[in-house]
Amino acid sequence: MQLIDGKKISLQLQEDIANEVKQLLASGLKQPHLAAILVGNDGGSETYVASKIKACERVGFKSTLIRLPEYVTEEKLLNAVYDLNNNQDVDGFIVQLPLPRHINEHKIIEAIKPSKDVDGFHPLNVGRMVLNLPCYVSATPYGIVHLLEKYNIETSGKHCVVIGRSHIVGSPMSILLAKNTALGNCTVTLCHSKTENLISHTLKADIIICALGSPEFLRAHMIKDGAVVIDVGTTRVESIDSKSGYKLKGDVKFDEVAPKCSYITPVPGGVGPMTIASLIKNTMLAAKKEIYK
Ligand code: GUN
Repeated sequence: MQLIDGKKISLQLQEDIANEVKQLLASGLKQPHLAAILVGNDGGSETYVASKIKACERVGFKSTLIRLPEYVTEEKLLNAVYDLNNNQDVDGFIVQLPLPRHINEHKIIEAIKPSKDVDGFHPLNVGRMVLNLPCYVSATPYGIVHLLEKYNIETSGKHCVVIGRSHIVGSPMSILLAKNTALGNCTVTLCHSKTENLISHTLKADIIICALGSPEFLRAHMIKDGAVVIDVGTTRVESIDSKSGYKLKGDVKFDEVAPKCSYITPVPGGVGPMTIASLIKNTMLAAKKEIYK
C-alpha cells in the first residue's frame, strides 16, 4: 500500500506557482489577486478560507477576504459579487459554500463573472468542462486528477466508482474521469443515496472516489484487493484528544481499508491540500488570462 501524500504534492505545485509569480513581477506585471467572500462564521468554512489565504501568502498572491454576516440579504451578497466582478485588480474570486438557507446559491454563482470564477462553479465553466473547452475546472476534482497523474496511476480502461453526486465534487469528477483524455478513459459508475446494492459496485471498482461526507462510510469488506481509494470526506467530529476540540474524519475507515489498497489518500493531508493548490493554479490562469482572453 502506498500513501498518496497530497500535502507534499500541493506544496510542490505551490512552489512552482511562487516561481511563476516572481517571474511575472520581474517582468513588470501585477501581483495575482484572489478574493473570497465568507458569509457567516461556520467553523469549517472559516478553516478552509484561512487555508486559502495562507496559500496566497505562500505563493506571493495578494488576497482579500470579504466577510458578511450570516443574516446578510441576497441583494447585498449579489452586490458584493458585482463589486468583485468589476474590480480590475481582482483576478479571481470565490464565494465560500455553503451559504445560509435564505440565500439562493445558484443565483449567487450565476452572478459571478465566468472569467473570474476560479472555483469553476459557474454554469458556463461547468458546460465548457463537459465539452472539453478551456475553462476553470472545479478545484477538488482538478486536484484529484493531478494526484492520480503524479502517482502514475493508470486510469484508462479502469472501472471507477464515484460515491456522491454533488455539483462540487462527485458530478464533475465522474465527467472528468470518463473523458477521452490522458487522465480519463475510465468506465465510471456514479453512485448516490438512491443506489441499490452499493457494495456490488464498489467491489468491482479499480478506483473509488468517496465524496459523500459520511465519516468512515467505506469499509474494508466493500473494496477489492489492490483498489485505489481517494477520500474526499472532511467531516468535523468532536475529539477530546485535540486542542481545537474536533478532528477531521474522512469518508473511509482508513486503518481497515488501507491494507487492502494499492494507493490511498489520508485525511487530513490527502485531497484537502490539493483543492487549495488547484484554486491557486486557477487563479494564476486567471491572472495570465489564459482561459478567457
Ligand atoms: N465549500 C466546500 N468546498 C468548497 C470549494 O471548493 N469552494 C467553495 N467556494 N466553497 C466550498
